[in-house]
Amino acid sequence: MNIHSWQEFEPFEDEICRMDCGNFGESAWGPATWKAMFNNRKLLVILHPVADKVLAGFVVAAYAGNEGELLKICVESKHRQKGAGSLLLTRLNRGLVAKEVGKLFLEVRDDNESATRLYQKFGFEEIGRRSRYYSHPVCDAVLYSLNLR
Ligand SMILES: CC(C)(COP(=O)(O)OP(=O)(O)OC[C@H]1O[C@@H](n2cnc3c(N)ncnc32)[C@H](O)[C@@H]1OP(=O)(O)O)[C@@H](O)C(=O)NCCC(=O)NCCS
Repeated sequence: MNIHSWQEFEPFEDEICRMDCGNFGESAWGPATWKAMFNNRKLLVILHPVADKVLAGFVVAAYAGNEGELLKICVESKHRQKGAGSLLLTRLNRGLVAKEVGKLFLEVRDDNESATRLYQKFGFEEIGRRSRYYSHPVCDAVLYSLNLR
């Protein structure tokens, strides 16, 4: 399911904020931030539902012109390593190409092995590194990009 607006997002707000909080803790966005993101940027959110308003995962990207940025991808722990993350990323890439986006960027903690493997499997290439960018615990940020077309 593809979501482009706050109105489409709102019925899933509680479920997404719960997952966001559970997976990203302090850096979760919360309802006000989600709303502001929809107001200020073009967002594409892809949901992977398993039942009515129950999600296995979601991915969100912002885009402008030819470029997009993957902001978050998250699969509930009980649904991981069964292909849900790959499905979300495939659908995101397809959705962005339909919006004329040709290049996707992202940033990930260097110690996030599962996410890094997922991105590398899709052909993302490392384009930079921000030393000790993250805290709790301190870790480099690695920047990746992928040509979508
Ligand atoms: C990263 C994440 C989205 C992957 O979701 P997933 O549904 O498990 O991904 P998939 O099952 O599609 O796996 C895709 C590939 O990632 C790699 N992978 C996934 N989990 C892994 C793990 N725990 N260890 C090593 N590799 C892993 C594998 O290479 C796998 O490919 P393969 O099965 O063909 O070998 C999920 O682990 C997650 O939500 N993590 C917490 C949130 C997060 O860190 N998000 C990224 C930063 S925004």
